[in-house]
Amino acid sequence: MLKGKRILLIVAGGIAAFKALELIRRLRERGASVRCVLTDAGAKFVTPLSLQALSEDRVYSDMFSLTDESEMGHIQLSRDADLLVVAPATANILARMAGGLADDLAATVLLATDKPVLAAPAMNVRMWTHAATVANVETLRQRGIHFIGPNDGAMACNEFGPGRMSEPEEIADAIEGLLAPAERPLAGKRAVVTSGPTREAIDPVRYISNHSSGKQGHAIASALAALGADVTLVSGPVSIADPPGLTTVHVDSADQMLAACLAAGRIDIAVCAAAVADWKAARPAGSKIKKKAGMAPPSLELTPNPDILATLSKPGQQRPALVVGFAAETENLVANAIDKRQRKGCDWIVANDVSPAVGTFGGERNTVHLISASGVEDWPTLAKGEVAMRLAGRIALHFGRPPKAEAAE
Ligand code: CTP
Repeated sequence: MLKGKRILLIVAGGIAAFKALELIRRLRERGASVRCVLTDAGAKFVTPLSLQALSEDRVYSDMFSLTDESEMGHIQLSRDADLLVVAPATANILARMAGGLADDLAATVLLATDKPVLAAPAMNVRMWTHAATVANVETLRQRGIHFIGPNDGAMACNEFGPGRMSEPEEIADAIEGLLAPAERPLAGKRAVVTSGPTREAIDPVRYISNHSSGKQGHAIASALAALGADVTLVSGPVSIADPPGLTTVHVDSADQMLAACLAAGRIDIAVCAAAVADWKAARPAGSKIKKKAGMAPPSLELTPNPDILATLSKPGQQRPALVVGFAAETENLVANAIDKRQRKGCDWIVANDVSPAVGTFGGERNTVHLISASGVEDWPTLAKGEVAMRLAGRIALHFGRPPKAEAAE
């Protein structure tokens, strides 16, 4: 995907600098060439020799090196790449970038470049949330600097929160998203897709469920992954295989499905294609319910399941940028789906007719309508894989990154 692309990797001084080594390997595996600039602080964490060995190129760090300047002037260095990547981007280098400083080779190169720049911040959580850093990042974003991360998690300083540098694989995906946008327009985006039925236990051998096959949800997960998204598929019990190229989490009940979605952490895209059982047994029996001679059939008390789609759609910092639900209806399809979009608070609803005569459940084809704030689109009857590709393409467009076919139009 990155064949022939040239990346200038600027390694600043943070504990996450060790991940830069792995990043070089990941980028070279994808076909890119990598040239490194190492700051003085960065050299306290990784050696020029390691960067040189992995990049198979020389490492630049001295602003006033006559040899460097005669071989490759710093202006040329800044322009001789397709993309500049700052990883780790420390609070210090972000501040110097925002302030327009040119006090070492890294800062000078960043000031002199006419190429896109991607920064992967890494710092202590308090430094990341400090008003100065927040303002610097905002300034840089407004100037068109791209950011990936930071992630939440435990940090070397024993604190917890946002500040961990994104993993090399995530950074490489984001780089692909910038340099090969048409092939992998969703690179760097994280998605969760729910699929299949849920199974609600009545006792250890009996359950409430439905006929969902998981074909549509699984196809959507695959389509998003094919466009470069990092996908977690949360699947109820289905008989189809786990799709390749993504992470599948297997669950039974709606409660487990919700927990798995929330455990996926911060996501950009949620697609709820699962046919979640609306109700579960209020008190599932711990052992098999036995029939006794002369006893009336037991009655089953039901209680509502959590609504996964509505939960993920709740406004707040953690809300994915795009939440897509499905409406499975047997009558008044579009009107019910429009109502459902508002009730659940999601952005889009894919409405499909699940009347037995239509054969959507378990079938290979689907006739859907895409309902958003801007109206209703009627799609032709398509194979479920085609519905999935079309939906994934729409999602990419929503993020301003048209996939290849549409980019070419
Ligand atoms: N959904 C969910 N959690 C639930 C129920 C539904 O996430 N507990 C999601 C489904 O994955 C789907 C959407 O909500 O994306 C609509 O589901 P549907 O079964 O069509 O709607 P209901 O909420 O059950 O409404 P109704 O009873 O009116 O059909």
